[in-house]
Amino acid sequence: MVAKESNEPVLLQQQGGVAVITINNPPVNVLAKQVRMAIADCLEEVQDDRLVNAVVICGNGRNLCGGADIREFNTPDRQVKPMTRDLMNLIEACEKPVVAAIHGPTLGGGLELALGCHYRVADPTASMGLPEVHRGVIPGAGGTQRLPRLVGFQTAVEMITGGAPVDAGKALEIGLVDRVADDGDVCGDAVAFAHELIETETGPRRVSELPVDVEPDTGAELVEETRTRLEKSARGMQAPFSCLESVANTLTMSFRDGWTREAEISQAAVASVESRSLVHAFFAERQAAKIPDVPADTTLRPVDRIAILGAGTMGGGIAMSFANAGMSVTLIETDQDSLERGLGRIEANYAATRDRGRLSEDDMAARMARITGAVGIEAVAEADLVIEAVFEEMDVKQAVFRDLDRLAPEGAILATNTSTLDVDAIAAVTSRPEDVLGMHFFSPANVMTLLEVVRAEKTAKDVIATVMALSANVDKTGVVVGVCDGFVGNRMLAPYFRQADFLVEEGAYPQDVDRVVEEFGFRMGPFRVSDLAGLDISWAIEKRRAETRPAEERFSPLLDRICELGRYGQKTGAGWYSYEGRNAVPDPEIEALIRARSDQMGSARRNISDEEILQRCIYSLINEGARILQEGLAIRASDIDVVWLHGYGFPRWRGGPMFYADMVGLDEVVATLDRFHADWGDKWEPAALLRELAEAGSTFKAWDADRAAGA
Ligand code: NAI
Repeated sequence: MVAKESNEPVLLQQQGGVAVITINNPPVNVLAKQVRMAIADCLEEVQDDRLVNAVVICGNGRNLCGGADIREFNTPDRQVKPMTRDLMNLIEACEKPVVAAIHGPTLGGGLELALGCHYRVADPTASMGLPEVHRGVIPGAGGTQRLPRLVGFQTAVEMITGGAPVDAGKALEIGLVDRVADDGDVCGDAVAFAHELIETETGPRRVSELPVDVEPDTGAELVEETRTRLEKSARGMQAPFSCLESVANTLTMSFRDGWTREAEISQAAVASVESRSLVHAFFAERQAAKIPDVPADTTLRPVDRIAILGAGTMGGGIAMSFANAGMSVTLIETDQDSLERGLGRIEANYAATRDRGRLSEDDMAARMARITGAVGIEAVAEADLVIEAVFEEMDVKQAVFRDLDRLAPEGAILATNTSTLDVDAIAAVTSRPEDVLGMHFFSPANVMTLLEVVRAEKTAKDVIATVMALSANVDKTGVVVGVCDGFVGNRMLAPYFRQADFLVEEGAYPQDVDRVVEEFGFRMGPFRVSDLAGLDISWAIEKRRAETRPAEERFSPLLDRICELGRYGQKTGAGWYSYEGRNAVPDPEIEALIRARSDQMGSARRNISDEEILQRCIYSLINEGARILQEGLAIRASDIDVVWLHGYGFPRWRGGPMFYADMVGLDEVVATLDRFHADWGDKWEPAALLRELAEAGSTFKAWDADRAAGA
């Protein structure tokens, strides 16, 4: 219907008495200023055209409209008239009925545009929603005022504070759309709908003029209930509350007043650190996929047959990740018993999800069917990709890689899931180190979305490109990191945990440290995390590391004491806390142990402020992150942020540790580190890069940008 090669951002066509306005701004038809201006021009033309009796707005390509142009945030382009929110009113004011033809993901400003139309027809595959809350803002183009008038107050509150989209069926059920089109030609169906309107002489139905469907008392109650729920689920964030406030205004204000107030709330949200952080996180994730010396058009190696070695905790979870994404894998063990145990754990895992109603019996069966067990490493003979997840011992891994070198087909990618061992030393035992890399999944691997893609000294570029592409296919966010102890995430975790231990020796209790870190926005503080992971595991690692590290680097003996008592954390009902179910309760026995440890060290316990707790935990991360950057082990600061957002529960609305440092101000961070350095010594010495940037009045973000520009 529309000339696809046209470069105009918006096309205007006439079909009988119906004018069709097509948004043509690939890839996703965002409402950039030239699109807004062109739609306004079309509307004016249509208004004056006596031969036009109805209007359809549709989109070329993937969707109707992708919403506001996120690149215009915090730029003057956002203010160019008509501003997005005025455009929706212009559409609504049209005296001829306007029908939106919705297809593809029609979210945010895209859906607000459809709400400005008088009627809506959706393709069966369309998804519609107002996800602004995920970017730290509110729907600011009338969405908070129109949606409640169209779908009812309660549904609007849920959609706007939660940000989740609905599909076409649901949209029809709640009244968001008037009709679901036949598959394929939503624009044609919308035109047919418009002709029906003309024939039946049905005029515009302006959403802003509809009443809000709720009793005032019920509305106020709903607002209170939602607020209480958000105080738990969105602690520390502002945007969900701002969304709620604006929607709640529909209970007491006229459309016009609510709409004016929406703009004020929206402006404050757009300017907030929370929104900047969330926008940073959004772009950081996209950026992570780009590797400067690996061209985007690198030919990928085929990955059709995947083998996983080791059906333990990680191997099983990794197999599930592939099976969940519709890919088949062979899971290999050394003997039948271990294999059956591993497959049994996977089945039990799926069954638990099924029992919670989150997986159908059929889907469970389909996923299990994608995982084929095999005994003996010879089963790798046809694999394009082998992921090794056997015991964490260098001898064992090297033996496995020697076998892989002998058995795996030429060109196969050989990956290790080691969390602490030297990937170069593993690659070195093969005759094809260019095919070897680390794929560091996080536990539980079927749930956690981070994948550290460890680039070893000789790893080939197409191997990196292939694994990065694959990670997206299994719903993981791949981040390229270099070889070092702990790679990026765990290396930074070490000083963070060290500070947590020091803090309790000096005067805090686990519950103090956890509270401060949780108030900052982490779901769990370091002690609750340790209890959940199992203290026996950290104990084993510490004992092993103690053999190779200088005595003064040993961790606090407190961990020894607690483990000697058989308190291994949540699974034994006691660790740093005692447990009532999953509830961590501070334990006087642990507090006494801690005080005894402080006495033994001869240091008087002191009151440690929340500010100090926070700075020591978070700044230790930042400082280590800066060292990682200066050593070239991460490509960019924003990659480190992505690691922490996806692997460690760093609050997304703070952007990640490095972006948070930018927000605090690097000079401020360095001044505090200098103070800590003077008090506690070398471990706190600010990283050279951090000091350099602070002295230049710069930021990690600017450093990333300079490097991307080749400076
Ligand atoms: P695990 O002990 O649960 O599983 C290891 C499995 O490998 C066992 O089932 C064992 O029978 C099998 N296995 C040993 N040698 C084998 C061989 N030659 N061929 C086939 N199978 C063999 O260990 P887990 O926790 O799954 O760890 C596996 C790897 O993943 C380790 O390198 C570990 O450092 C790494 N990792 C572990 C994480 C965790 O949180 N558990 C997180 C990230 C990485």
